[in-house]
Amino acid sequence: MKGHPGGTEHTRHMLALAGLHPGASILDMGAGDGETLRLLRALGYDAEGMDLAPRSGDVMQGNFLHTPFTDKHFDAVISQCAFFASGDAEQALREAYRLLKPGGKLLLSDVFFAQAEPMLREAGFVLLHAEDMTAVWREYFLEALWREEDLCDLPRGTCRYWLLIGERR
Ligand SMILES: C[S@@+](CC[C@H](N)C(=O)[O-])C[C@H]1O[C@@H](n2cnc3c(N)ncnc32)[C@H](O)[C@@H]1O
Repeated sequence: MKGHPGGTEHTRHMLALAGLHPGASILDMGAGDGETLRLLRALGYDAEGMDLAPRSGDVMQGNFLHTPFTDKHFDAVISQCAFFASGDAEQALREAYRLLKPGGKLLLSDVFFAQAEPMLREAGFVLLHAEDMTAVWREYFLEALWREEDLCDLPRGTCRYWLLIGERR
């Protein structure tokens, strides 16, 4: 699947909620075609993006579950619709935690088949904000089905799509 539910408007909303200062260093985990990365740079952030299969020269190739960056490297990590797709959201959260400076922000929007807050807490984050975006995600998912894109095998069960802002304390 390409893109993420809500598009760039959703990205701007996440940034406003996180209150990041201009020049803050940000890693986009699962940056895809680099749309968010280019927006972040245009807004004055010091942004990098990583993806297993980059669809733009702006995005570096790599596995965000085990990145080459040193501990406490970034002021913020953003990830939109990618942690679940990695198949190991728990490890993605641990890696995001490792990469963040104390007080650093996690800007996450993704599918959750379990309660989101305990997963974040388990990885060491404090949840600052949560918004249920399931209705927006449903439209995005159905459009992808109509486009007959390859979709990962979603496990059966109830899922929700959450916008979450966390902080590494
Ligand atoms: C639905 S796309 C979202 C892309 C982008 N975040 C956006 O909003 O347009 C999910 C992306 O996560 C990437 N991805 C999944 N697992 C990954 C991993 N372990 N490391 C790096 N990228 C991964 C995929 O290659 C894909 O580009």
